Amino acid sequence: MNKSPNKKPKLVPYPSNSFVTERDLDKPPVLETVHLGIDFGGLNAVDDFSILVGRTEISGLIGPNGAGKTTVFNLLTNVYQPTRGNIMLDGYSTAGKTVAQVNKMGIARTFQNIRLFSNMSVIENVMVGLHNRMPGESLLSSITHLFGFSKAEKEAREMAIDLLSFFNMQDLASANAGSLPYGAQRRLEIVRALATNPKILLLDEPAAGMNPSETHELMENILRIRDTYNIAIMLIEHDMNLVMNICEGICVLDHGKVIAKGTPDDIRNDPKVIEAYLGKKR
Ligand SMILES: Nc1ncnc2c1ncn2[C@@H]1O[C@H](COP(=O)(O)OP(=O)(O)O)[C@@H](O)[C@H]1O
Ligand SMILES: [Mg+2]
Repeated sequence: MNKSPNKKPKLVPYPSNSFVTERDLDKPPVLETVHLGIDFGGLNAVDDFSILVGRTEISGLIGPNGAGKTTVFNLLTNVYQPTRGNIMLDGYSTAGKTVAQVNKMGIARTFQNIRLFSNMSVIENVMVGLHNRMPGESLLSSITHLFGFSKAEKEAREMAIDLLSFFNMQDLASANAGSLPYGAQRRLEIVRALATNPKILLLDEPAAGMNPSETHELMENILRIRDTYNIAIMLIEHDMNLVMNICEGICVLDHGKVIAKGTPDDIRNDPKVIEAYLGKKR
């Protein structure tokens, strides 16, 4: 466990024009994309997107509205099939896999606009995530056969409560998900994603709609998730304070293209980044 998450990490060059966190160098990257791209009609929504994410890296994907950030997440989770390029998740290509299969391979996400099963209880939402981590129906049914359905369900419930307690939400287990305050719904969405046991967690604008103290708490929670589960986290975010504070590697998109990659300091001082942000009204 990393005892000093705020200590400035070092990024070191890596083949394919990328960087990786120094502490992750001895392990293969959790995610690599090579010349990834997708067109919508005549629009190159994402083009030549090549990145590399270290095993326990917190990385940021930033850029003006419409830059293609959410589209990248949709590509990484196979919601969209790429027009060009490859995605390697934990060393395996995700080409041709379904959304559920890619989730099982180790990638989980939250959405820019919260997507919960709002008519289901908090714990049921988490159990949906847990169900996805099962290697296949056959295993689930064999467990059910061996121990009976009630035992399998009891274990799933215990795991769900355990996950909820990460955000101190265990007492809300039987509440209706849709009745939770906004911040709690955002946390529940993260818990549901974590329930699928990901190697990398994608967060699409997790601080959107949060006040400064909620954003600060979120920042600490993101670090705690990384340090507790030892996974990588990639986030899309407009809150530059959050991004610059916790992201180790940052990639900047503009009009679907990567215009800069590097540490927060590299990005802050990059003239192309400054132009992309200041040259547009957002
Ligand atoms: N399914 C789609 N069909 C057509 N155009 C799309 C689709 N999804 C995204 N786009 C377009 O791709 C561009 C990037 O969108 P998006 O990835 O949502 O941007 P960001 O998340 O950076 O704000 C926008 O011009 C958007 O209109
Ligand atoms: Mg978006």
